[in-house]
This record gives sequence, C-alpha cells and structure tokens, in this order.
Amino acid sequence: MTQVLCIAGARPNFMKIAPVMAALAETGISAQLLHTGQHYDAAMSDSFFSDLGIPPPDHHLEVGSGTHAVQTAEVMKRFEPVLESVQPQAVLVVGDVNSTLACALVAAKRGVRVIHVEAGLRSYDRSMPEEINRVLTDQISDLLFTTERTALANLQAEGIDASRVEFVGNVMIDTLYRNLERAVPAARTLGAALPQYAVLTLHRPSNVDDPATLAALLDVVGEINRRLPVVMPLHPRTRGNVEKFGLTAKLDGLHILPPVGYLEMLGLMRDARLVLTDSGGIQEETTALGVPCLTLRDNTERPITIDEGTNTLVGPNPEAIRAAFADVMAGGGKAGRIPEYWDGRAAMRIAHALQGWLPQKKGTHALTGIRVG
Ligand code: UD1
Repeated sequence: MTQVLCIAGARPNFMKIAPVMAALAETGISAQLLHTGQHYDAAMSDSFFSDLGIPPPDHHLEVGSGTHAVQTAEVMKRFEPVLESVQPQAVLVVGDVNSTLACALVAAKRGVRVIHVEAGLRSYDRSMPEEINRVLTDQISDLLFTTERTALANLQAEGIDASRVEFVGNVMIDTLYRNLERAVPAARTLGAALPQYAVLTLHRPSNVDDPATLAALLDVVGEINRRLPVVMPLHPRTRGNVEKFGLTAKLDGLHILPPVGYLEMLGLMRDARLVLTDSGGIQEETTALGVPCLTLRDNTERPITIDEGTNTLVGPNPEAIRAAFADVMAGGGKAGRIPEYWDGRAAMRIAHALQGWLPQKKGTHALTGIRVG
C-alpha cells in the first residue's frame, strides 16, 4: 500500500521533493513519486534527479509546455487515472507551480487528502501565476507545512485553521546543506577563475515577457557587467524572448551559460560576490549561503529573506538596481542570519508529523483537523 503519492513537475520542485522522499523512506512511510513532465529538458529536469539522488519517478505524465490552462488541464486529466490506480492515503505537493495546483485539485475532488509543503507564502500580487497557485492549493490542502512563521498569519487571514498548519522550516535548505560540499566550484563551471563576479537569473513573465522591461533590465545588467562580470545561466523562456524581441546583442560581454545543474548553481552562488534574481528559491538559497541578493521584483512572498536574510528588493527599476549594486560594491551588502528551522532538518520534521497524521492502517478514517507535531 502506498501511503503518500509525492508530486514534482518543474525545476524548483526537485530540490524540495528530494529530502522529503529521503525522510519518508527513513521513517518507513511508503511513498511513490510522480513527475508531471512540466519541465522535461535534461538540464531542467533529469540532471536534478541524478545530482540529488531522487529515485526515478514511479509515474511520468509527460505533459510538457503549454498555456497555463492547457498545462494545468493536461496534468489534471493525466493525473486522475494514476491517482485512481495508486489509491494513496494522501497526495503531497510542493511549492507553487502549475503541477502543484493541478494535482492538489484532482486529489481534493476525489476525496484524497492533500499535504502542501511550502504553504502560506504570499506576495499579494495576483498577477503572478504562482500566487494563484499558492492561494488555491492552500485552500484545498488538509495539512500545510510552512517555511517561515509569517505564513501562518497569511493562512489564517484566508480562513485556514491553525490546527492544519505546522511550521517545519525549509526543505530546500535541507538540500542545500546536504550538497554544499559537493558544489561544483565556479571556476570549473565557467572554464576559468573569475576573481569576482555576480550571478544573474531572470525568468519571471513580468520581467521577460515584455520587450521594453527586458531591454531595460539587460541594459542595466550591461552596466553592472562593466564593473563586475555577470554570469547568467539562461532560462529557456528568457532565451526564447531575447531572440524573439531582437535583444541578443544586449547579452554581448555577459558570461552566458545554458541552464546549469543544481551542483553547478550552488557553486556559482556560493562563490559569487552578489546574486541578482527574480527566482523565489534563489532568494532563500542566498540567505542560507550569506551571499547578498538583489531581487528584481517589486514584492516577495518570502519576507524572512529581507527581514533576517541577505535579500533586498529592487524591482525591475534600473535606478534602484544601480543604487543597490553600488551599496554592495562599497559596503559588501547585507550579511543576514539564518532563519529559524532552516537547519537541514525540515524534511525529517515533516516525516515525523506524518507518522502521527497518516492513518495507521489501511481503512482507518481520515484524521483531518487533528493537530500534528
Ligand atoms: C515554471 C514555474 C515557475 C518556476 C519556473 C522555474 C509555473 C506557473 N511556473 O515557470 O514558478 O519558477 O518554472 O523554471 O508553474 N521550457 C523548455 N524546457 C523545459 C521547460 C520549459 O524549453 O524543460 C520552455 C518552454 O518553451 C516553455 C517555457 O520554457 O513554454 C516556460 O516553461 P513553463 O513550465 O511554462 O514555465 P516556467 O517559466 O519555466
């Protein structure tokens, strides 16, 4: 009997599911893994399975790319028969991607309990597709595991009872600590040692889908690159748009890389003077690494990275980016501290909570609403 059917679909899910699968195995909870196929390139998916030792998926839906509606609907259509045949006691989803919401929705409507890892984060910006995924997934989840204490207030404000919520810390940081020693040194990834450099990642639709915004961002990155070399692993969406909008020349002089594997990215961030990003996860990883991060967004759903960590919000605004960059060059940037429970043990806390929450034997009735931990 499979107790928990775990879901992963897109790049940021893989480093979250890895420690959860390991902790479930260690505590004797039987689990299967389903890959939706939202991300499918070797560099966006397979390399994470091998680098992080994630067991090969038991099920693969191979949905691929599409509009949000098509992608979400395809996951739902293909997931339902798998759920029907596996009959798990619960479905566990992580993060905020389309696969997260799609599988949670199918499970909830079939009466299968949903566990959400990384619940309660809110940017309060509904123009972000991930924000819609977060709000809806949390509403239909039975057990919600949070990464920072502020998440509970967000959930309660949406009518979610505290008895369903458990603060466990950050599973992505479990993965970071577990792999830090194996991180590939930046010099090897770059093919040459750069004494100092910045790392840049850019893929949010709000930054890369509008030609004027993307052009302005690449212009200011070009200015930074003249003072501090900029290394940029290029997301497929961004590469596509740079070409489509005729902005390829603006990448001249930057150290452009294809999407890099987990261990390469960890090494690039660890050894960087500064990281510029619009990713959610990288805001957290830089806080754990103590590397200053300038976030190219107007808001963040991860406020602890600002309040306690190394993160500064600069939006897509060139003036703010220039000023924050000058601060880092002059003063070294924010040092920050490691947030509570970002200690490498979050996945174990989840597994222990599940030991008390999952029915003890087949046929036992759902204990939804019972406080865990
Ligand atoms: C998705 C997530 C986002 C996450 C990001 C990390 C949603 C709503 N968004 O956005 O939260 O931060 O993943 O990458 O779920 N593509 C490839 N190869 C792949 C995957 C995608 O070439 O393996 C290209 C396709 O052209 C596709 C585009 O990238 O259309 C975007 O992929 P998609 O999964 O739709 O969203 P992301 O922008 O990656």
